[in-house]
Amino acid sequence: MWPDESACEAMARTLASRPGARTACIELRGGLGAGKTTFARHLLRALGVKGHIKSPSYALMEPYTAPGLDAWHFDFYRFDDPQEWEDAGFRDVFALPGLKLGEWPEKAAGLLPGPDLSIELEMLENDQRRVTVDAFTALGLELLP
Ligand SMILES: Nc1ncnc2c1ncn2[C@@H]1O[C@H](COP(=O)(O)OP(=O)(O)O)[C@@H](O)[C@H]1O
Ligand SMILES: [Mg+2]
Repeated sequence: MWPDESACEAMARTLASRPGARTACIELRGGLGAGKTTFARHLLRALGVKGHIKSPSYALMEPYTAPGLDAWHFDFYRFDDPQEWEDAGFRDVFALPGLKLGEWPEKAAGLLPGPDLSIELEMLENDQRRVTVDAFTALGLELLP
């Protein structure tokens, strides 16, 4: 459970402290306003990304670098054309080592490679979030909170 956003930040910091986080593919699931972008921001920040971290909802993808880190933050909410996957070069990005964070993975089902970790957020009352984390690979298992 995340009673408030500081708990979201704390989990992001814990995840960032694991070396494997820098090469993980992580799905972020949950409805609008659940906290997917907020978690991604806290995670990228904790990994050393400086400057503004915007929601990738319009560009679909925002790339980030920091010392020892290449990261890509995706938001597939507006993704609807499989051709765009090739045209935008997403196939190439997913073949690179580095951290991939993907919001709304269900909108790119069939194209997205299977994740190492899935984080699902449910909004409860009073800003609380119920968080369900699933690991799908050995790397994902290393990253469980
Ligand atoms: N416990 C919490 N965990 C994460 N975000 C929270 C929490 N409580 C309140 N918030 C707020 O909820 C909002 C989540 O928005 P956002 O991260 O953009 O959602 P999403 O990307 O899932 O649509 C932010 O304004 C954030 O400050
Ligand atoms: Mg978002």
